Amino acid sequence: MPSEKSIYAPDKTLFKNAYVSSFADYKEQYNKSIDNPEEFWGEITKQFHWETPIKYDNFFRYNFDIRKGPIYTKWFDGATTNICYNVLDRNVRNGHGDQIAYYWVGNHPDDYSRLTYKRLLEEVCKFANVLKSKGVKKGDRVAVYMPMILEAVIALLACTRIGAVHSLVFAGFSADSFSERIIDCGAKVLITADGVWRGEKFLQLKSICDQAMEKCSKHGHNVDCCVVVQHLCRVTSPNRMQEHKKVYMKDGRDIWWQEAVADASTSCYPEWVQAEDPLFMLYTSGSTGKPKGVLHTTGGYMIYAATTFKYVFDYKPNDIYWCTADIGWITGHTYVVYGPLANAATSILYEGTPFYPNNDRFWEIVEKYKVTQFYTAPTAIRALMKFEDDLVKRHNLSSLRVLGSVGEPINPEAWMWYYKLVGGEKCSIVDTFWQTETGGHVLTPLPGAVPMKPGAAATPFFGVQPVLLDESGKEIQGEGEGYLVFSRPWPGIMRTLYNNHDRYESTYFSKFPGYYCTGDGARRDADGYLWVTGRVDDMLNVSGHLMSTAEVESILTEHRGVAEAAVVAKPHPVKGECLYCFITTTDQVKFDAKLLQELKHHVRERIGPFAQPDVVQNAPALPKTRSGKIMRRILRKVAVNDRNVGDVSTLADSSVVEQLFGGRPENA
Ligand code: PRX
Repeated sequence: MPSEKSIYAPDKTLFKNAYVSSFADYKEQYNKSIDNPEEFWGEITKQFHWETPIKYDNFFRYNFDIRKGPIYTKWFDGATTNICYNVLDRNVRNGHGDQIAYYWVGNHPDDYSRLTYKRLLEEVCKFANVLKSKGVKKGDRVAVYMPMILEAVIALLACTRIGAVHSLVFAGFSADSFSERIIDCGAKVLITADGVWRGEKFLQLKSICDQAMEKCSKHGHNVDCCVVVQHLCRVTSPNRMQEHKKVYMKDGRDIWWQEAVADASTSCYPEWVQAEDPLFMLYTSGSTGKPKGVLHTTGGYMIYAATTFKYVFDYKPNDIYWCTADIGWITGHTYVVYGPLANAATSILYEGTPFYPNNDRFWEIVEKYKVTQFYTAPTAIRALMKFEDDLVKRHNLSSLRVLGSVGEPINPEAWMWYYKLVGGEKCSIVDTFWQTETGGHVLTPLPGAVPMKPGAAATPFFGVQPVLLDESGKEIQGEGEGYLVFSRPWPGIMRTLYNNHDRYESTYFSKFPGYYCTGDGARRDADGYLWVTGRVDDMLNVSGHLMSTAEVESILTEHRGVAEAAVVAKPHPVKGECLYCFITTTDQVKFDAKLLQELKHHVRERIGPFAQPDVVQNAPALPKTRSGKIMRRILRKVAVNDRNVGDVSTLADSSVVEQLFGGRPENA
């Protein structure tokens, strides 16, 4: 396998016209972005429409040092704009009206459609008028629970056109999780679809929304209006289960999208908003178990999404770009919607899975649409690597130029497979490190410019200043490993946690005053390349879905049979990490197959199917210190059956360790 010494140079012919064409060029532009941010970003902002211009004496301001006062970041404060206008009207005015914005590719290969920029603008205006007619105003939050369909993009842009703040929840979250998020953001309007097929799996989205709205009502929060896209009647179902198509519609609350937009006007004047007005919020897991409503604002996010998209994917006119991420995650927001549209790109929006109807569906789509940039997650790559090479080789993938990876560290084996088999040893791989909080890529090699090392997120994007700190907060210079932090804001960084600025300050800025703390560790090698090593807090990353151990533990202990629960991450060959749970039962309940099923079911119900534990172990006792703190280090060792547990002298009862190794279940 490749080592740190393996360096893959970008293909010279493929990238001779790259925006950034050499490492020296990257360095020069990077230095400019750090030394003179006003000039660097100022040139970029000129390509966008500002209704009230940016004042250059108020370009950006921030405080990252909690000792000096409240944390804040402001870019282009005082300027006004509208992101929807910039990604649609501006492009239409610049002659892109008849260009395809999205090729929609359905779960079933017989289902596909397309939308030009001009039509997208019209559809957005229509739906914006519907939202207005339902009383949605600037600053109101709108909850969205949608599959990967064109109306999802239309819904988001319609919100931003009228200054409303969208709050998407990934349509794989349970009704419980969704209702918690609706209540937290106080959304009065919800947008969804009747249902969706993903592979051969059917998801009845509207009924999940019904349950969620009912739960909201029980907590005193009523959703006034639920708009439902009629999607099922227009797609080919994998097994013709027509009965799933019956949808309950509550009188006076629920309306069909298609009926609502039928008579709506195709023009809607954009609401000019402040650069620092909220654009959207998106929940991400927090280590206390309660989700955090990450809030992004308008101007900075727009500029950053646009700029990262352009440079990291080296997007050129006539390219066909495809990001497989779901719209419900930040990758979908920035690199399915805003980044591509801000660059007048043509993208693919894919509804299905990599495995339906066959395990070469991705490659079939790449071949059919002649995709030039393909962006997916390591977990998908690892799942596809298991199949025979021929599934890839039988397709002509020569259109590809840039391959992206996101969501978790990519292991060198997966990187090599991606590089060789999918990329034909000529594509650049961009291993993009970023977070819901960062808004866009912060560490990534640039295609054509930065030589690649398999598994390294490599170099900072323009305007980003990464620092490694040791436990005492001292900066590590040169080679070394430590906490990955950032010492100054770039335009796309989050501004606060919705309704909870204190938590924002304590989560991200209190451990190391003066820095934004990512919660990840990283290593710098002798060439100055950065390698993200993974979370350093109690978070786990299952197939790119971030979860906190505390969140899962508190859900497990809701079960009357559970006295105590401890959850750790265990490495998993496809998912990256999976959940390994240790359960101490109450005296009344026996640990048996029934309890095991109930617990798995409970976690699915409360969070979503993606959070289901892989292993649940009976733990008559947990390894605790004399002060009662659970020693997770030991549990992590038990999970991987590594008896090198190190020092156990601080344990109250060291016999627990042997008991746990002895009690590992067969499937562990
Ligand atoms: O641990 C890092 C990991 O995913 C976390 C962010 O998760 P989320 O906010 O859900 O956003 C995911 C999509 C941007 C990070 O703190 N992560 C993401 N990308 C990478 C990564 N770890 C290593 N390498 C990456 N390229």
